[in-house]
Amino acid sequence: MSQTFPPLKNDLFLRALKGKDVERPPVWMMRQAGRYLPQYMKLREKYSFFERVETPELACEITIQPIDELEPDAAIIFSDILTIPQALGIDVDLVPGKGPVMGNPIKTVDDAFSILAEDVPKKLQHVMDAITLTRKELNGRVPLIGFGGAPWTLFCYMVQGEGSRNFDKAKAFLTQQPDASRHVMKELTKATIDYLKAQITAGAQAIQVFDSWAGILSPDDFNEWSLPYLMEISNAIKEVPVIVFAKGAWYALERLAFKSGASALGLDWTISPEFAREKTRNNVTLQGNFDPTHLLGPIKDIELKTKRMIDRFGTQRYITNLGHGILPNVPVDHARAFVETVKNYKSEP
Ligand code: CP3
Repeated sequence: MSQTFPPLKNDLFLRALKGKDVERPPVWMMRQAGRYLPQYMKLREKYSFFERVETPELACEITIQPIDELEPDAAIIFSDILTIPQALGIDVDLVPGKGPVMGNPIKTVDDAFSILAEDVPKKLQHVMDAITLTRKELNGRVPLIGFGGAPWTLFCYMVQGEGSRNFDKAKAFLTQQPDASRHVMKELTKATIDYLKAQITAGAQAIQVFDSWAGILSPDDFNEWSLPYLMEISNAIKEVPVIVFAKGAWYALERLAFKSGASALGLDWTISPEFAREKTRNNVTLQGNFDPTHLLGPIKDIELKTKRMIDRFGTQRYITNLGHGILPNVPVDHARAFVETVKNYKSEP
């Protein structure tokens, strides 16, 4: 069932993703809907996290809050990567001050083999409804990004059972139970492809895949436990551009650029623009990579650092973003200074 939506007025982001000429780079921020916005905090007082995610009207309102406040060039649907583990039977709770906690993490081989990707889009229909509603409400102001977690990052939470600095239990499971681990990765890959395709049918105009914990794997383990599944996902999605954000996987940039089928690669702040361009040789658009903590500094420094970053990446095949999600204690004016600096950017003659 395909939908009809209002025509798109700002296609800068989609043009940059497709490698077309742009007047200036587009800009958006990872986690641009969230706790640094007072209007988000107001809804947070009234509704729990999953009420906000599972009620299409609330998810739509929260998605559009940063668009009204900061006018970036893209919106990202308000949801979470942990919707897929939920659809696969893992209980997820968000504990204030602690983060996500799973009631029944994968502990045994039997637990792992009981994970089956069945009817995932149907179980997550609320996400599709939120996307369709948001496309209508955005009225063509900016494109809407859908997203999902990479299999490795989802596996981290499903096995560890909670957030962690090193996900030691998840990493140990890979070496102790490789067959069971491979089964979970395959099911997660299938679930993610079905889920992302349903998001596109519902109205998502681009997709970002978050591999937030890629950087805790060795290069060889990344090649075995993350890259093949990322490649399968991005190669399966032909309908819209795909951005792969494998945080910390600087060593895999070249393979991701030439093998993954992604239109763009997200970069964290540890990678220099020159290094990223050298490894990817303009085969993909690059997105990133302002250090999120730099938004806590004075506005004049934010302006200067943002300009310098664009000077170094260049204006073409580039999407300005942060190197990871915006922090909850960033003043709204500082986030606005970042977005405005990109919008006013002029290359030195
Ligand atoms: O970018 C956006 O504006 C869209 C919304 C979005 C959220 N989570 C909302 C959210 C996106 C894209 C995500 C992805 C996500 N979720 C990732 C990958 C990106 C990344 O940050 O690495 C991960 C690892 C998760 C899992 C998750 N969800 C964690 C670790 C937490 C707790 C940490 C935190 O920031 O509080 C969440 C909760 C969450 N997801 C919040 C938001 C706005 C905070 C909820 C709240 O306290 O109101």
